[in-house]
Amino acid sequence: MASETTQTNLDSILGRLVVEQGLAKAEEVEEALRIKREAEQQAASDQSLATVLVSRGYVTQRQLDRLRPKAQEEQEQHNRSQQIPGYQILKRLGAGAMATVYLARQLSLDRLVAIKVLPRKYTNNKEFVQRFYAEGRAAAKLNHPNIVQAYDVGQAGEFHYFVMEYVEGRTVYDDIATGQPYPESRALEIAIQIVGALSHAHKAGFIHRDVKPKNIMLTPEGVTKLADMGLARAVSDVEAAEAEAGKAFGTPYYISPEQIRGMVDVDFRADIYGLGATLYHMVTGRVPFDGPNPSAVMHKHLKADLIPPDHVNPALSAGIGEIIEVCMAKNRKERYKNTEDLLSDLEAVKRGEPPLQARKSFDLSALQRMEDTAVSTTGMEHGAERESIGSAMVQHPGFWVAAMGWAVALVLFIILLVRS
Ligand SMILES: Nc1ncnc2c1ncn2[C@@H]1O[C@H](COP(=O)(O)OP(=O)(O)OP(=O)(O)O)[C@@H](O)[C@H]1O
Ligand SMILES: [Mg+2]
Repeated sequence: MASETTQTNLDSILGRLVVEQGLAKAEEVEEALRIKREAEQQAASDQSLATVLVSRGYVTQRQLDRLRPKAQEEQEQHNRSQQIPGYQILKRLGAGAMATVYLARQLSLDRLVAIKVLPRKYTNNKEFVQRFYAEGRAAAKLNHPNIVQAYDVGQAGEFHYFVMEYVEGRTVYDDIATGQPYPESRALEIAIQIVGALSHAHKAGFIHRDVKPKNIMLTPEGVTKLADMGLARAVSDVEAAEAEAGKAFGTPYYISPEQIRGMVDVDFRADIYGLGATLYHMVTGRVPFDGPNPSAVMHKHLKADLIPPDHVNPALSAGIGEIIEVCMAKNRKERYKNTEDLLSDLEAVKRGEPPLQARKSFDLSALQRMEDTAVSTTGMEHGAERESIGSAMVQHPGFWVAAMGWAVALVLFIILLVRS
């Protein structure tokens, strides 16, 4: 079984890439593989899958040539990952914008683990590699049932890798990618567990920076786990989000305004925003802001008004809508002040009660706005007062008598002056 799954060769990588990039259908690649195998069995030829795909007209030679370097890099990475001492690689679990994840057996403890192998290009970035090890080691000290446990970091040849708990199951993204939302109570259950994970990590000084449906895993027992905690990023948050452009649901749908602005002091409130955006997607089946390209989406995070979630899905309670809106306030000062307040609101709405902390925060912002308006109105009133005092003086008859007196006195003074 293991030897079967480890036999990843250039052909199968190419076949997968051809389908992933939409160049040919999965059935066409399977058909080509069948033809290739039959030819091999009859010892007629040892054609590669690529040759069959081209000869059947499923893809062009030029399309294959363009895919080949990526396939070779993947194959190389796969071969290297076979050589991580102490681990037996079993199969590829998936790949994100920056790395490939494999299922492996840790030989010493005879347990399954997931290993994230970084591409070779990161090896030359000394500053990043240092951060990768420092954060990985620190993350291994975290221990929480809702955080994918980090076990180890290391280097095999030119590749750096991150060993973590293997979560058998799927991601939230797998469930909602079809556009079908979760029932509100299920979404609340997931959010409650993720807030617990974030709260634990924030107390230990970690900010996740990339809370999104693809980083929330669900075990068959219904336990929710936040993945990639303590995994250093090689590039800025915006670059990381943009790197996924072109992949379905890969554009920066969950990134906070302050991360887009490149603020240096990004804090736990960025994770609250990411969780709010994730919750929005979970209960409406839609991302909060959409657009034709990453910069259009990011512009909306900065400027556009959020369509209230209960306007998209009228079955939602008002409470969950209020929670999401507070989490996703553009100004982080208007978000939840801590994860405990957010947790108590999520639990209240789950019990069918109103989210008191969100209401308080709405009231505070409303109060602030009222104060602002009052200040500017008072300013206007003072101005008006001054104006009305002036006009009242002009309207008073005594004013004109006095003015006439002064005018006569001035004329007499001038006559006297001329005569003398
Ligand atoms: N600990 C794990 N256990 C099991 N499968 C995992 C684990 N970590 C990741 N995976 C699988 O590997 C895939 C790729 O993960 P990876 O973190 O590289 O990318 P991503 O989260 O999808 O996107 P990004 O690179 O933006 O974080 C995931 O979608 C998931 O299916
Ligand atoms: Mg991930």
